[in-house]
Amino acid sequence: MRASQSSDAARKKRVVGNWKMNGSLAANAELLRACSASVEAWAGAGVEVSVCVPFPYLAQARELLSGSAVRWGAQDASVHASGAYTGEVSAQMIAEFGASFVIVGHSERRAHHSETSALVAGKAAAVLAAAMTPIICLGETLEEREIDMTEAVIAGQLSVCVEVLGLDALAHCVIAYEPVWAIGTGRTATPEQVQAVHGFLRTRLGRAGAGISLLYGGSVKPSNAAELFAMPDVDGGLIGGASLKIEDFEPICRAFG
Ligand code: 13P
Repeated sequence: MRASQSSDAARKKRVVGNWKMNGSLAANAELLRACSASVEAWAGAGVEVSVCVPFPYLAQARELLSGSAVRWGAQDASVHASGAYTGEVSAQMIAEFGASFVIVGHSERRAHHSETSALVAGKAAAVLAAAMTPIICLGETLEEREIDMTEAVIAGQLSVCVEVLGLDALAHCVIAYEPVWAIGTGRTATPEQVQAVHGFLRTRLGRAGAGISLLYGGSVKPSNAAELFAMPDVDGGLIGGASLKIEDFEPICRAFG
C-alpha cells in the first residue's frame, strides 16, 4: 500500500458528497467550481471535503478540482480487476482519474443490486489494492431498528469486513453509518441514536477503532449537521441531496464546532 493511504483514511473531520445519479456537465462545472472556491476556509478549519461523482464525471472532477483541496471519488467499483464483466468499472480505472475515495456497500446498491456484505468487503479490498480509500457503508432498515436489531445488523455487516479484510486493512478505510430509514427521507437519526451506533462501531473495531473516521449519512442538512458532528464518535458526514447545492453543502462543511 502506498504511504499516503493511511493519511487518506486517518481519523479526521470529513464531509463527503455523494452525488448519486445526479448531474450534468454544465451543472457539475458550476458546483465543482463553487466547491473549489470555498475550500480554503474548510481546509483552514481542518475539514477534508470530497465529492463522489458518477463515473462519467471523474475526468471533469479531476480537471476542475486538481490543485484545490477538494478531493474526489466514485460511488462503486467492481470486485474484479479486469476482464469480461460488461458494464463494470474497475478500481484501477477509477484510480487513473486521480480519485482518492470509492464508496462501497451503499444501501441503494445493497437493495437494488443485491450486494451482499461479502461482495462489499471484496470491493473494499479491490479499492485498497488500487491505492484508494474505500468508504464502506453500513446501516439497518427501519424494520430492523423497530425490532431492536440495529446492533446485530451493524455487527454482522462489520464482521464480514473484518473477516475478509482484516483489522489492519480496515484501518485504511472510512466507515459510514447510514440508517436506511434516514436516507433521502428527511427523517434524520437523532444525534444520540447516531452516537450510540458510532460508539458501538468504534468499540467493535478494537485496536483499529481509534484511528478510523466514522461518518454519518442520512438527511444531513445545514440545520442538523452541527448537532450531529458534535457527537464524540461522529467524524463527519456522507451527504446525499444536500451535496448537490453549494448553498447547502458549504454550511455543512462549516458545521464542525
Ligand atoms: P441524503 O443525504 O439525501 O439523505 O442521502 C444520504 C446518503 O445516502 C449518502 O450516501
